[in-house]
Amino acid sequence: MERITIKDKTFAINIPESKIQARIIELAGEINTDMRGKSPVFLCVLNGAFLFAADVFKNLDIECEISFLRVSSYEGTASTGHIKNLVGISASLKDRHVVILEDIVDTGDTAIYLLQEIKKHQPKEIRFASLLFKPKALRHEVKLDYVGFEVPNDFLVGYGLDYDGLGRNLRDIYKLAE
Ligand code: IMP
Ligand code: MG
Repeated sequence: MERITIKDKTFAINIPESKIQARIIELAGEINTDMRGKSPVFLCVLNGAFLFAADVFKNLDIECEISFLRVSSYEGTASTGHIKNLVGISASLKDRHVVILEDIVDTGDTAIYLLQEIKKHQPKEIRFASLLFKPKALRHEVKLDYVGFEVPNDFLVGYGLDYDGLGRNLRDIYKLAE
């Protein structure tokens, strides 16, 4: 589908499923190389990153674990800048190699918050993987170790990303059409 409508908005296809999947295989390959022998813990940031995390995880061939946490900062199509911690970190991260799996880094508010919270658990190392990155929206200095695609400041839906809770089930990524 080239164009879709969710509630009051129309979206046009931006990154097709085939491109997403091919890029994830490349990212997982890099992670396999970097993290082999380190038995990393992957932290999937719910809700948006659940599909990305699943697809990365299926392509890992190293010893590893996954755990989930949930934060929220978006309302409608804009970041509120105020992060809500909805489900905390339950895994033991002390002295572990941690890889955060995020759907998108926009302002970077969530990334900064996550890094700060995870550091309190005294991991050995924290790496950050994000499927999408909006460099022009970034308000903080955040080091991203693995980025799927750099994207402009458009509002995106699909493949885990939502518009007011909807659109996460789409296999492709769409952007808001004018
Ligand atoms: P940040 O804190 O501004 O970097 O925003 C990060 C969070 O906002 C992401 O984890 C997403 O859940 C959400 N978000 C940012 N940009 C978009 C978008 O274009 N579409 C849907 N959700 C987004
Ligand atoms: Mg997210």
